[in-house]
Amino acid sequence: MPASRLGILTAGGDCAGLNAVIRGFVFAAAARGLEVVGFPEGYEGLLHPAGARLLTPSNTLGIEATGGSILGATNKGRFQTRRGPAGQTILPEPLVRAARQALEQNRVGALVVLGGDGSLRTALQLARSGVPVIGVPKTIDNDLDSTDVTFGFDTAVTRIAEAVANLRTTAESHRRILVLEVMGRHTGWLALHGAVAGGAEIALLPEFPFDGDRLARFIKESERRGQRSLVAVVAEGARAKAGRQIRRQTSTGDSRLGGIGTYVESLIAARTGRETRSCVLGHLQRGGAPGAFDRVIGQQFGVRAVELAADGMFGRMVSYRFGSVTDVALADAVNRTRTVSEESQILRHARALGIFLGE
Ligand code: F6P
Repeated sequence: MPASRLGILTAGGDCAGLNAVIRGFVFAAAARGLEVVGFPEGYEGLLHPAGARLLTPSNTLGIEATGGSILGATNKGRFQTRRGPAGQTILPEPLVRAARQALEQNRVGALVVLGGDGSLRTALQLARSGVPVIGVPKTIDNDLDSTDVTFGFDTAVTRIAEAVANLRTTAESHRRILVLEVMGRHTGWLALHGAVAGGAEIALLPEFPFDGDRLARFIKESERRGQRSLVAVVAEGARAKAGRQIRRQTSTGDSRLGGIGTYVESLIAARTGRETRSCVLGHLQRGGAPGAFDRVIGQQFGVRAVELAADGMFGRMVSYRFGSVTDVALADAVNRTRTVSEESQILRHARALGIFLGE
């Protein structure tokens, strides 16, 4: 039966473009005479259904240009999938029941979840339990399978490109090597696109463990050619051939990837004698206003999510394939991480541009 009231929540870590999706969703729903209810703080909002609020074209006007999420987000909530006794992925039954009740209490016939792989894995389990769920692919990491792009990625790449350009001017003044550590978890999409967009000479990716000797040789050769500065973009998940990924503890005791930038700084300085500095771009990649691409694709994703909800196409995820917005089975999107590989055109093009990839 088609839903007359739709729900929406923003799960997991935030990124630019969440509000653009919400805006597109609300406006497209209103055009069909459908109401939208927003659940606050990601999936946690389903545990406090009275906190849900009506979203209308008038109270979402202009939000496509703003960063963060007007609904709030959490990636530390209780709606996490876990392994069942036979090793299968499960979502505890009380959470499924809570989700169902929250939708019933708010008379919501379809729930749209904006999330990355973890949040969409939860969405898949809800869908498998009969909860009417639709996913929208969000993450700066761009590591979801079955979509060529996730919203938030393009804006984050822009932030990296701007940082590379800013590092370049100071690196040129001082004849230095500047190392920029960027996010991306276990994939190098952000580092690679950011290096190309910003004109960096070096990109170190998790998918291609780097050789310290070759890195030093590349730097020395560029110096011999008379190059004053070099900028290296290093993915947080990158590692030396001989080493392991580097992690750090956050102030709240969580373990996160981080620290490879300073490792690469020391390695370069020790092996080349060049004055080297590093910095971590961190959450600047996630914060702030979305760029035009994420505003457009975000709203298009919102429109598609309404179409899926209206057609009762649950267990699907909005996707972007070959230049068009379409949809795929949630199960296909969350089962595999999309990584940079030899087949990735951007990798071959980066090599053709002379970017050193650590090999
Ligand atoms: O998945 C998005 C992401 O920004 C990763 O690139 C990064 O490793 C992680 O989230 C950071 O998480 P948090 O905001 O919890 O520190």
